[in-house]
Amino acid sequence: MPTFRAPRGTRDLLPAERAAFGRLESIASDLAGRYGYREIETPLFEQTAVFERGVGAVTDVVEKELFLLAPRTEEKESWALRPEPTAGIVRAYVQHGMQTLPQPVKLMMTGPMFRYDRPQAGRYRQFWQFDVEAIGDPGPAVDAEIVELALRFYTEAGLGTVEVHLNSIGDAACRPAYVEELKAYFRDHVSELPATERDRLERNVLRLLDSKDPAMAALNPGAPRISDRLCGPCAEHFAAVQAHLDSLGIGFMLEPGLVRGLDYYSRTTFEFYVTGRHGQQQAIGGGGRYDGLVELLGGRPTPAIGFGLGLDRVLLALEAEDVAAPAEPVPLAVVVGADPAATAERLRVATDLRAAGLAVRADLAIRKLGKQLESAARDHAHFAVIIGDELTDGQVQLRDLEAGSQQLVPVADLARKLAAAAKSHRHGVGDG
Ligand code: HAM
Repeated sequence: MPTFRAPRGTRDLLPAERAAFGRLESIASDLAGRYGYREIETPLFEQTAVFERGVGAVTDVVEKELFLLAPRTEEKESWALRPEPTAGIVRAYVQHGMQTLPQPVKLMMTGPMFRYDRPQAGRYRQFWQFDVEAIGDPGPAVDAEIVELALRFYTEAGLGTVEVHLNSIGDAACRPAYVEELKAYFRDHVSELPATERDRLERNVLRLLDSKDPAMAALNPGAPRISDRLCGPCAEHFAAVQAHLDSLGIGFMLEPGLVRGLDYYSRTTFEFYVTGRHGQQQAIGGGGRYDGLVELLGGRPTPAIGFGLGLDRVLLALEAEDVAAPAEPVPLAVVVGADPAATAERLRVATDLRAAGLAVRADLAIRKLGKQLESAARDHAHFAVIIGDELTDGQVQLRDLEAGSQQLVPVADLARKLAAAAKSHRHGVGDG
């Protein structure tokens, strides 16, 4: 047993897995760029109040799962690691006066989030999201555009079929009456409620609907549903979102119980699942409209919508579907030498080739040439640059490790020759 291990619920992304993440991140940023989203980076931690106010004080994410940073004695402020990016992005939107820019302001981010939850398969204490936010557009067309963008991401990542679960949770006009109705329903079942849910009944009854407590699985299906209680404008908005999805040929499942676990949502909400995998920890992404959040964090009333896709879960799903991981990078050449001790020569030649933009490893171990060549072959290098006595005449041997051929090449020509070979799909060394 090693003395130290990565903290529970976190893991090291070793190079192969990091490469798989990197591939998803570059698909995300290419795609978001194509749709007009620009990258933003906010701090990994914020004032705790940003999350209490933004996400909601009476939510699992804030009440149970927030990673609070131990304050130093001189600090009066309370800080927390971000459990999700939306509150921080909206805080930045308000802070930097982005409401004066042409609307909507379309922002994207990929990065780690932190939730102090009980770790299990697909649920981590540090996990990665691809997030987009379109701030300043009331929809309904952008609602459909954002769902389509998420589905495009899954397709480009290589996932098979992904289900869209869709709902509307109304707004400040229709939700209050619904909330009262929901309270009345749960008051009738108060003896069946687990302690946390009983405590939340009067404070934030909507959260009972997304409770992870198994006891709630029996009660929730009988609860009144917001989608049946929408006011005229919300119902119209929801119908128009569906019509836009229809016109894009996007299928979706109406899920009247889908209220999401964060308080800021209004109207459109959605979640994404790999077909047939619907468990509570299985959502590979989710999001929705949050028309009240900008104002809640001190800005002018501004409609907005966004999503967060769980990259860890997307990778798990890709592995389950046997989608090939990205190939490991292979050096174009390894610089080896007949004199095991002449590491300075090998380092110098490799340095010049790398400065010319080529992927070249220097063999810096003091070992026989045969061993150095074996190691180059193990790396699947295409060429070995072999330094010998010819170096005094400014020449080296260039061996094509695939073809087995070898030729003398002036050191001055080496970079050009290797670059040409790399370009011509690494098919041998030409004479040119
Ligand atoms: P969320 O549903 O809390 O939404 O998280 C989005 C996605 O992050 C989930 O669907 C899931 O794939 C992944 N995820 C969440 N928690 C974990 C965890 N502990 N381990 C692994 N993956 C996890 C939000 O965070 C909202 N900010 C989305 C949004 C953006 N809404 C509007 N704009």
